[in-house]
Amino acid sequence: MPVATDHLPSSRTAQPRRLFEITDHVLGILERGGADLNQLGMPAPPEPEDGLWEDVRVPRARALKNIWINSMKDAAHDEYLRWRLDDLAPEQKKDVLKDWLASLVEAKRVKGRPATLQLIVPGNVGSGKTTALAALGNEASEQGLHTLFVKHATYLTLRRPSGGPEDMTAYRVRKKFVEADLLILDEFCGEMDGVATEFARRETIDLVDSRLAAGRATAYSTNLRSRSTPQFPAPGIADILGERLLSRLQSRAHLEKIHGQDRRKPRKALDW
Ligand SMILES: Nc1ncnc2c1ncn2[C@@H]1O[C@H](COP(=O)(O)OP(=O)(O)OP(=O)(O)O)[C@@H](O)[C@H]1O
Ligand SMILES: [Mg+2]
Repeated sequence: MPVATDHLPSSRTAQPRRLFEITDHVLGILERGGADLNQLGMPAPPEPEDGLWEDVRVPRARALKNIWINSMKDAAHDEYLRWRLDDLAPEQKKDVLKDWLASLVEAKRVKGRPATLQLIVPGNVGSGKTTALAALGNEASEQGLHTLFVKHATYLTLRRPSGGPEDMTAYRVRKKFVEADLLILDEFCGEMDGVATEFARRETIDLVDSRLAAGRATAYSTNLRSRSTPQFPAPGIADILGERLLSRLQSRAHLEKIHGQDRRKPRKALDW
């Protein structure tokens, strides 16, 4: 939706002057940055007839949806926003995801704690883990849950001094991710193939622990196993982040492995 700003008068001539084009993309960035769209000549959203929202659930539901969408956009995962649980393949365990979501919604409604607080989704590269958890988040954010998506490595970067956006201190980053009703922590231990740094261990344990203590749900996707074995000698989560972390990860947890081949693989192997 290009928005012309022709009506803005030029300071030198009486002729209108086109300053720049505001595309949907630019508009999204400005909106997320808290820009006053009126200042940009954008029409205000329609007011409710009586000047008041009849039902505060309407703007709240919109806000929750936007918070989720923005977290997916921050991860450059816009293309996963279209997925619904019903679109998933059977091996992506949509029924398990639906049941878990229902339990989270119910727990929030009665201000209780869900029996299963953590969902661990391991699987091969490209098996559809992110898609399954994105579909969960897409629906959770429409059912009244404050839902966020972040990659594990991104969270660790955000927690470093001056690792986050200018307006967000490391303290606020932690608060934001600890307080969400449902956090999707994607690519858990991704790109970590040795023993993690003390910082990564401490920060990850702190996040998992704090969310557990607060009774908030977390879903993890990972390409790794819990630990290395003679049959699978590659380092597992316990080898990288330690047994203390694994113990917390498995607390009130449900494991749902996604089996299947890499869905990104071309049908015919590329010869190069
Ligand atoms: N049910 C499905 N039907 C068709 N395509 C799918 C389905 N699920 C996932 N895909 C596609 O398969 C590709 C890989 O999915 P996804 O990114 O979810 O995998 P992943 O397990 O998270 O991979 P990685 O381990 O690399 O993070 C994506 O292009 C996605 O759109
Ligand atoms: Mg993924």
